[in-house]
Amino acid sequence: MWYHALSVVSIGASMSIRQSFIDRIYDGVDPFASYKTSKAASEALPEGWGSTHPYFKQYIDLLKPGLIVEIGTWLGGSAIHMARLLRAAGLNDSCIICVDTWLGSSEHFMYPPGRASLKLVNGRATFYDDFMRNVVQHGVQDLILPFSTTSIAAAEVLRECAFAPDLIYLDGDHTARGFRADLDLYWEILRPGGCVIGDDFDWEAVQANVINFAYLQKVEFTSFSNKFLMRKPN
Ligand SMILES: C[S@@+](CC[C@H](N)C(=O)[O-])C[C@H]1O[C@@H](n2cnc3c(N)ncnc32)[C@H](O)[C@@H]1O
Repeated sequence: MWYHALSVVSIGASMSIRQSFIDRIYDGVDPFASYKTSKAASEALPEGWGSTHPYFKQYIDLLKPGLIVEIGTWLGGSAIHMARLLRAAGLNDSCIICVDTWLGSSEHFMYPPGRASLKLVNGRATFYDDFMRNVVQHGVQDLILPFSTTSIAAAEVLRECAFAPDLIYLDGDHTARGFRADLDLYWEILRPGGCVIGDDFDWEAVQANVINFAYLQKVEFTSFSNKFLMRKPN
């Protein structure tokens, strides 16, 4: 049984997708349940990139997604924006699964500003806490679940557990190979009629793969203000 917005009823009225994921992956323990930060509440929280693009509102309003999967969450800018849109649309039983290693992308390691943003401690990135704190400070922890693993591992888990997202946001690995692997894997688990939104369409590796993928899949895509959008046929 694939779980998505239209089949939520089959899980049972009392069992949301979020709770199913918590039960299946976290043995029933909500990752936010005992979260505490050591930082002061007043400490500034940076946002993401292009996180409030109009595609998000347009397709959340259209699809009324029960399950959104975001690949590449960073500090939560786009996830928090989508969560607020879900809230505004009254979709309080929906869930955004945020897939991220919280270890950064290849580009972060290449230049000093990128490395600084990883907050390396003993050689390991430590910005996961900033993401968790951001989510809690924006009051959307009931709509978001972190899934701290690679996009490939997450796709495998989602497939095995039969979670079929209604909306997928791709903003993780932007290398040609990594991006293509994500596009291929996540298109497979996207429910028919659902859509993929992706960031950084001006990156050659992204754009060339979107064009090639759309051609092979015989689907159309649109792009606007550096994001692309592709809908899976029903
Ligand atoms: C550009 S940032 C995401 C920005 C975020 N969507 C926003 O708008 O605020 C990219 C993120 O993808 C994550 N990432 C890169 N490659 C990944 C992979 N293969 N699997 C999981 N996460 C990955 C990085 O850790 C980083 O946090």
